[in-house]
Amino acid sequence: MPSSASPNFSRSSRRRLLLVLLPLLLLLLLLLLLSLLRSPESIPISSNSTPSVGVAADSGFFFLSLSKSANSSISSHLRALTLNTHLAGTPSAAIAAAYVRSQLERAGLETLTREYSPFLSYPAAASLSLLRSDGALIKPLSLAEPADPAVRVVPPYHAYSASGATVGPAVYVNLGRDEDYLTLHRLGVDVRGCVAVVRRGGGPRGAVVETAAARGAKAVLMYGKTTGGGVERGTVLLGGPGDPLTPGWAAIAGGERFRVEDGEVTRRFPRIPSMPVSAATAGEILVSLGGLPAPPEWKAESPALVGVGGGPTLLNFTYMEDGKLAAIHNIISIIEGSEEPDRYVILGNHRDAWTYGAVDPNSGTAVLLDIASRYGTLLRSGWRPRRTIIICSWDAEEFGMIGSTEWVEQNLGNLSPKAVAYLNVDSAVQGPGFFASASPQLDKLLIEIMKQVKDPDSEGMTVYQTWVAKNGGISIERLSRADSDFTAFLHHAGVPATDIYFGEVSDFPVYHSALDTYEWMQKHGDPLFHRHVTISEIWGLLGLRLANDQLLPFDYLSYANQLQEHESALGKLLDGMEFVLPVSASIQEFAAAAKEVQHESMELKGRGIAELPALRLRALNDRLMLTERAFLEAEGLRGRPWFKHLIYSPPKDSASKLSFFPGIADAMSESNDSVAEVHANIQHEIWRVARAIQRAADVLCGKLT
Ligand SMILES: *[C@@H]1O[C@H](CO)[C@@H](O)[C@H](O)[C@H]1NC(C)=O
Ligand SMILES: *[C@@H]1O[C@H](CO)[C@@H](O)[C@H](O)[C@H]1NC(C)=O
Repeated sequence: MPSSASPNFSRSSRRRLLLVLLPLLLLLLLLLLLSLLRSPESIPISSNSTPSVGVAADSGFFFLSLSKSANSSISSHLRALTLNTHLAGTPSAAIAAAYVRSQLERAGLETLTREYSPFLSYPAAASLSLLRSDGALIKPLSLAEPADPAVRVVPPYHAYSASGATVGPAVYVNLGRDEDYLTLHRLGVDVRGCVAVVRRGGGPRGAVVETAAARGAKAVLMYGKTTGGGVERGTVLLGGPGDPLTPGWAAIAGGERFRVEDGEVTRRFPRIPSMPVSAATAGEILVSLGGLPAPPEWKAESPALVGVGGGPTLLNFTYMEDGKLAAIHNIISIIEGSEEPDRYVILGNHRDAWTYGAVDPNSGTAVLLDIASRYGTLLRSGWRPRRTIIICSWDAEEFGMIGSTEWVEQNLGNLSPKAVAYLNVDSAVQGPGFFASASPQLDKLLIEIMKQVKDPDSEGMTVYQTWVAKNGGISIERLSRADSDFTAFLHHAGVPATDIYFGEVSDFPVYHSALDTYEWMQKHGDPLFHRHVTISEIWGLLGLRLANDQLLPFDYLSYANQLQEHESALGKLLDGMEFVLPVSASIQEFAAAAKEVQHESMELKGRGIAELPALRLRALNDRLMLTERAFLEAEGLRGRPWFKHLIYSPPKDSASKLSFFPGIADAMSESNDSVAEVHANIQHEIWRVARAIQRAADVLCGKLT
């Protein structure tokens, strides 16, 4: 049959065309769908067809897209980390260390273990009993932790407590602050020769013990905020962080060490023994106290209290320390930067715990491992950070930030010229509510990122929105505390830092006790592990931006504003502006430099940073990076040379009204000096701060004067 040449297709040829067109149509539809779906949440990811993320901005989207099942991998990390206890320097610590190392390697990251041998302090023996005034035994009192009857974790103790045996009357000293002893003094109560019974909340443990010792107490028993039969362990190390035998240098094997009995070392330990006790044991002591009636405001907090004590009964308290050199292990992964491998963005969290450490610190460790795995996925997709990212799992933080401090001391020569920022997370999740602290030039970046991340507890809100609503505005705390691993980076090395977490500012109820378990986290801290994921997003994005941005995302106008606020707070406290004039003048210089740099950055961005010669960009970034370093002073704070940061280091007196300008704070709280000496010292410290701010202004604008 001849085929017709008619323009009409035969039935069969029409079918043939359809067969050709249909797949094409389907493909078109698919492509359309894919392009519509290319919102950040739905970039398709599979191990063999990862999208390429060569552009730095895309790596953030890609990073966020990996949140999908992050809650379950974070929870399984936390489960694994908390199966065993991991007190620093003990054999069981090796299990958590091996887990972290294997997970970092599994993420595809080059990973090292760095060992140090600091002097660590463990309990050998302890006893407590109640005696009649003639010395006859009334009854023994328990020093155990009611929540841990099988004693599977280290018994409650204070690391670096003195050893000793004391028999004496107990006196209730409330929070153990100077004002509490003044109250007792007014009542006519003398604590000399007594055992001071302290409720936690009056500042760092070591300082509370030293205050009691200075008043003549012979020992201190502390009880606290832990509930449910837990007891709060902790360190009483004084005078800053790090191994007490190697102050200012690293505790490496075969390196120089002071001897434990050297004066340099013994002043790091309180003079009298101390011990945390359970609420039950504290209650038994409180009801035994006679003496003068306790002030009503003390009774309000401790209902069992009737008299402040000083008899009629006595306490017999003994403690024996087991102090020794012990091996600790930092685990460090390095992602080398493609353009600027010699610039470091450092993420850190400690791994060691008093007990199981589900909150403190392994909620942070689980998140760190999640970030490592996401960075690993990015790397496999072809991404490389511009600058080097260093991921650190520290050991022996609980004893006094020892792992991070020894590492910073050992690497100071490289960190000083090369570290861009240190991003710390300790207990990532303690409960609801985002908490942020940062060096001021990082505020803006932190806020930008908080606006990008969904709030885990409020549907349809960003972290930023709920945080601003809760705080009535922007509220970023400054890092003058010395209670986690940012201390050596900021206070000693002058590296800008952040410290973030979820949870209320006051300590959570299982803090440092045997109850800090995976089960507590699952029941109370973060039942679905969504807050963990949020910390992973914020922390991970901070790392990415700082490592990727061509121009460092540092905003010094916010630093200048913060300094101006500090200056006016100081002026009010000193009741006279002429005192602070040198500081005012240098802050003006600093603000002018900040404006100039902002102007310069805008101009460069306008011209296109990609067009800029690499060394020109590098020179500007170096000024931004090194400005914080200029706040350091080589000889450090008076009497505390390790603390070198004159804007943000902890004040000597934790009750100080100044949470900045530590040298000025110290001069103000020096009670042994005459009024004239105090004034002269304050003025000198004001000049030192003024010179430091002027130095920072000079570095920021990059010109010799
Ligand atoms: C105090 O306790 C210790 C240790 O249990 C004991 O050796 C000592 O005899 C006791 N002292 C008094 C006065 O009871
Ligand atoms: C992770 O989040 C999902 C969605 O809310 C939830 O169903 C799941 O139980 C969570 N996983 C864990 C381990 O909590």
